[in-house]
Amino acid sequence: MSSPIPGLPAGVQRVLLDEGQIRRRVETLAQEICADYGDECRLVLLAPLKGSVVFLADLMRQLARPITISFVLASSYGNSTESSGVPELQMDMCGDLSGADVLVVEDIIDTGRTLQRLVAAIRSRGAASVKVCCLLDKPARRVVELRPDYVGFEIADDFVVGYGLDFAEQHRNLPYVAVLDPDAAR
Ligand code: IMP
Ligand code: MG
Repeated sequence: MSSPIPGLPAGVQRVLLDEGQIRRRVETLAQEICADYGDECRLVLLAPLKGSVVFLADLMRQLARPITISFVLASSYGNSTESSGVPELQMDMCGDLSGADVLVVEDIIDTGRTLQRLVAAIRSRGAASVKVCCLLDKPARRVVELRPDYVGFEIADDFVVGYGLDFAEQHRNLPYVAVLDPDAAR
């Protein structure tokens, strides 16, 4: 399989957000977050693995305040561009969240099912507050009521890869966000 555009990996159609656009938006998101959380907050950034690791790494380094980080394992896609509809969550890595101000740092919100389940699980662990920060939001795809508190970019209903996001575990290491060639998903 060969890519029609020189410089892009096979299976990738076009760059949607380049490195500069992402970096500038992550900086302003971090400023908004720092302004909203007071010094008294015990801010825990909780990242669902694996897609959010790149966004987490960049965002946390822009936050000029004390934070801790924590992880959950979330999976719903397998080797497809369609969610299975039943997101699985493994919470055993997330640590003690009681009394914490939890900010979920997510790569992308699609149907919203993963975050709906995750937010409920965090609340049930006694968090003082729960908010959601996503780099990418596809509001047209939502099937449950879920409004993120911080959104990097609203995007159309394209399957995207790069900057941590994968298709069948590939393309996470691209430094930009790109649209997957629909033929590559067949
Ligand atoms: P949701 O539960 O349908 O909102 O799906 C959320 C998760 O599905 C995200 O955290 C991603 O891991 C994955 N996902 C959704 N859309 C995309 C996409 O366009 N590219 C790559 N992964 C995606
Ligand atoms: Mg994710």
